[in-house]
Amino acid sequence: MTQSFDPVEFRKALGAFTTGVTIITARTAEGVPLGLTANSFNSVSLNPPLVLWSLANTSASLGAFRKAEHWAVHVLATDQESLSARFATRGIDKFAGLDVESGTGGVPLLRGCMARFQCRTAFQYEGGDHLIFVGEVLAFDRTETAPLVFHGGRYAHATRRDAPDVKPRAAHLAGSFSEDFLGYLLGRSHFRFFAQLRAALDAQHLSDMEFYVLSTLTLKPVITDSELAEGMAGVLDDRRKQALDSLVGNGLAAARTADGIAYELTPRGREVALDLISRAKALESQVLERLGPDAPVLKSLLNRLLGEIDPTAAAIWQAPPQEHKKAS
Ligand SMILES: Cc1cc2nc3c(=O)[nH]c(=O)nc-3n(C[C@H](O)[C@H](O)[C@H](O)COP(=O)(O)O)c2cc1C
Repeated sequence: MTQSFDPVEFRKALGAFTTGVTIITARTAEGVPLGLTANSFNSVSLNPPLVLWSLANTSASLGAFRKAEHWAVHVLATDQESLSARFATRGIDKFAGLDVESGTGGVPLLRGCMARFQCRTAFQYEGGDHLIFVGEVLAFDRTETAPLVFHGGRYAHATRRDAPDVKPRAAHLAGSFSEDFLGYLLGRSHFRFFAQLRAALDAQHLSDMEFYVLSTLTLKPVITDSELAEGMAGVLDDRRKQALDSLVGNGLAAARTADGIAYELTPRGREVALDLISRAKALESQVLERLGPDAPVLKSLLNRLLGEIDPTAAAIWQAPPQEHKKAS
């Protein structure tokens, strides 16, 4: 039965099969919790309810899982990548600091997962360099969220291809320049998104550009003109000056000229900015709610797109450096 496959190529070919990611947990006879990340999980039978997964013969937990009567499968949500990495790391205390519940047979149950199956070992089969566990499902629970996905040896996102209650956009236009063009999709989404904020901006006599500059001024108490110029490069460029003059004219920002030109928000400017930002955030939640579990995927892809087309984003948009607490 031995083949002379190139093991790397074989792994790569297997990695073409996209899976979810699970963590399997159990407790040793001495009561010590154990667990590992596994993507070999699969359903076997609906009636009786059976599932399976396989464990490498090299696993440190092999002996304990062989003996365990109960174990639990946790299907991970998209925001649980670090938990997956933790349970795929050997020789650490995988449960350190985790708040776990206790399931059937005292099995540790992790929180925040997409689905959990509490199982009793039904069969164990030798499967080459893995041991296959088939479990009878005794209980399960699930929440509506987005899954963590594994594809080609990397974590990935899953999105639905359509939404049940949204009319698909005209299919015949897919591939046409206007409707299938990234610029159109981004531009029109941007326009329609901000259109919903327009009444609030109009009430403050602010254009989209001025709101952009106003919200940028909330990033730091005082922002120098060169920081703003760098931050607006490729976005507003020269129109930045015009927007700033207008904000100063409206009494929302003030120019400081002591150490070169710099700008700060006036108390009224801060109040208006925070009000508009909270309206924008509320609008964002409504839009993202409609996308449901696909929302984090959209944000992640847009972040990647920005990273690709705006790799040298100005320091003003970067996370502030961590403050080092001085020893007292
Ligand atoms: C996404 C992913 C899927 C994995 N799937 C499995 C699997 O199905 N079976 C397995 O034995 N190891 C799998 N591993 C590797 C184990 O999680 C890893 O070797 C772990 O350290 C084993 O735990 P232990 O040796 O501490 O018991 C996977 C790792 C990752 C990152």
